[in-house]
Amino acid sequence: MPEHSNPHNLIESINSTSEAIDTKQINESNSSLPAHRFCVAPLLDCTDRHARYFLRLLTKRSFLYTEMITTGALIHGDREGFLAYNQEEHPVALQLGGSEPKHMQQCTQMAYDSGYDEVNINVGCPSDRVQRGMFGACLMKEADMVADCVNEMKQVPIPITIKSRIGVDDHDSYEQLVEFVSKTSQAGCQTFIIHARKAWLKGLSPKQNREVPPLNYPRVYQLKQDFPELEIIINGGITEFGEINDHLTRVDGVMLGREAYHNPFMLAEVDNRVFGESGPTVSRQAVVEQMIPYIETQVAQGVRLKHMTRHILGLFRGIPGARLWRRHLSENAHKPEASVKLLTEALKLVDSSTT
Ligand SMILES: Cc1cc2nc3c(=O)[nH]c(=O)nc-3n(C[C@H](O)[C@H](O)[C@H](O)COP(=O)(O)O)c2cc1C
Repeated sequence: MPEHSNPHNLIESINSTSEAIDTKQINESNSSLPAHRFCVAPLLDCTDRHARYFLRLLTKRSFLYTEMITTGALIHGDREGFLAYNQEEHPVALQLGGSEPKHMQQCTQMAYDSGYDEVNINVGCPSDRVQRGMFGACLMKEADMVADCVNEMKQVPIPITIKSRIGVDDHDSYEQLVEFVSKTSQAGCQTFIIHARKAWLKGLSPKQNREVPPLNYPRVYQLKQDFPELEIIINGGITEFGEINDHLTRVDGVMLGREAYHNPFMLAEVDNRVFGESGPTVSRQAVVEQMIPYIETQVAQGVRLKHMTRHILGLFRGIPGARLWRRHLSENAHKPEASVKLLTEALKLVDSSTT
């Protein structure tokens, strides 16, 4: 197990379900705010360990999630590679795709041994590949199977959480959602992250499934009212602090995916505006300066520069020079002679008054 301050201390704070906290209280009791109050979503091909290291420079308090990793990949593939992360990333959850209880337990043990803070079960991904493997969103119709997984996984002393939709196909009534949450919470899951739209398993691509089915936030609020003892995190289409604080009056936490990844500097305000901290906000320039030694170390270990620079393209979004920053990195990072100097050069192209 890697060395770090005991991540399993988090178990208690994660398991102690909080009531939705009025935003007025934020400044009074920030240290007691639940760890899931703000989460960055698992995004396949995006939230790898380099992206998470970068995101952590912007926000110390947000809960980070790995991309979905299948039980098959962990059991038969490059286990060490899939489990690797930087100690700076805590709190960080490993998201698992799978549905075979013993395999889920085996992988949960690996996550625990590696020092992850939580294991999250993917019950939201609608891709064909995932359906064939019998995991992801199709499991919303298989509450007993997911409950069996939770039962096995909780033999390992690490919090087990679920990320789901509000329904799939015609299996989308509130009663069916309640049945799913009842069975899996009775098995031992206390935290549910709910993407507030259903998924169509046939006919829509994964991308369409993140845009076409309408968002239904009230359904998630209702779930919190009906299960006040559970920690309910809302996800889907959230982009602004006004919305975030509004959701936080009704549920325990919010999870942002695309906005956090494509407009990462918004995360620089999360610790103050969502967790009630009062420290100075990190500058974009400081973030770049902190990425440089990290990238240097990783390059020395054989990681390709472009595999890291691709995550920081959005850092200057919305300010003068943002396009030049993006272009300089994306047009040069793949070149064999490219080095970390690229970041310093790109920084000079951005309006210095805004960094
Ligand atoms: C590129 C991409 C990859 C995704 N990969 C995952 C994944 O690995 N696991 C998962 O549970 N959800 C995944 N999702 C769904 C997101 O976690 C999130 O639920 C969804 O994007 C809605 O949140 P948002 O509107 O804040 O982006 C992915 C979404 C995107 C855009």
